[in-house]
Amino acid sequence: MFEFDGQVVIVTGSGSPKGIGRTIARTFAKQGATVVITDMNEAGIKDTVEVIEAEGGKAFGVPVNVTSPESVQKMVDTVMEKFGRIDVLVNNAGISQKVTVEDMTLEDMRRIFEVNMFGLFLCTQAVMKPMRAAKYGRIVNLSSVSGKRGGGVFGGAHYSASKAAVLAFSKNLSREICAEGITINSVCPGLINTEIWKSLPAEDAAKVIDGIPMGRPGETQEVANAIVFLASKEASYITGEEIDINGGSHMD
Ligand SMILES: NC(=O)c1ccc[n+]([C@@H]2O[C@H](COP(=O)([O-])OP(=O)(O)OC[C@H]3O[C@@H](n4cnc5c(N)ncnc54)[C@H](O)[C@@H]3O)[C@@H](O)[C@H]2O)c1
Repeated sequence: MFEFDGQVVIVTGSGSPKGIGRTIARTFAKQGATVVITDMNEAGIKDTVEVIEAEGGKAFGVPVNVTSPESVQKMVDTVMEKFGRIDVLVNNAGISQKVTVEDMTLEDMRRIFEVNMFGLFLCTQAVMKPMRAAKYGRIVNLSSVSGKRGGGVFGGAHYSASKAAVLAFSKNLSREICAEGITINSVCPGLINTEIWKSLPAEDAAKVIDGIPMGRPGETQEVANAIVFLASKEASYITGEEIDINGGSHMD
């Protein structure tokens, strides 16, 4: 698809065995990138690295808690010491919770924002220095269709609000840094065929499918394909933008 030979790509939250992050990491590795697998789940990191190496790719695992400034800086320092460059950051780590606003606690709200928005901010800020020095960088964020139209199936209003915040943050930051060769874009997946989808009772799943014109959930590969494009050199004039990946369930 695209050429990433010699590039170093960090994918946060890529330790989840059936998650989107692992597919993103595998896809970059197949395009020649060295992929940094970073997550809180250390067993998951090891497993993703093994999967990529078994496919002939290059991967390097570093644990991180994206909510901790020290942990994020340590992860970025480790990558810079080892490879001396960071070309791409994919902010994929995220959490969700199904709860109504009436039952939501302030702690629930904080926990969701802490990972989905503050963690994304910390990782983005930490890679900006090396990207600025290189006058090149690609940052791609995982937002969600629920950040545009509200969710409801799997996540509460706090999840939707955090994913909307990601879009506004990306646009603002784009204006700050795009003249320096660094772009920041987002993807907004709809329902993707991950563990959470498989956990849905058949009756609820049928209702969800009814709302998707393509009549099926998306595949993790379909999300990864759009991310790899936004992270490529070829996407050089695209910034502050978002790509919907939702089978037609929401169109702007
Ligand atoms: N699955 C979907 O249908 C869907 C739809 C739209 C958007 N998204 C977004 O895509 C991203 C990936 O979703 P997924 O379904 O693959 O989720 P997942 O739960 O399978 O993977 C998320 C990963 O993030 C990691 N993580 C969580 N908190 C962390 C922290 N503090 N520090 C470091 N790592 C942390 C987890 O350990 C996990 O490996 C998320 O941002 C999610 O909001 C998913």
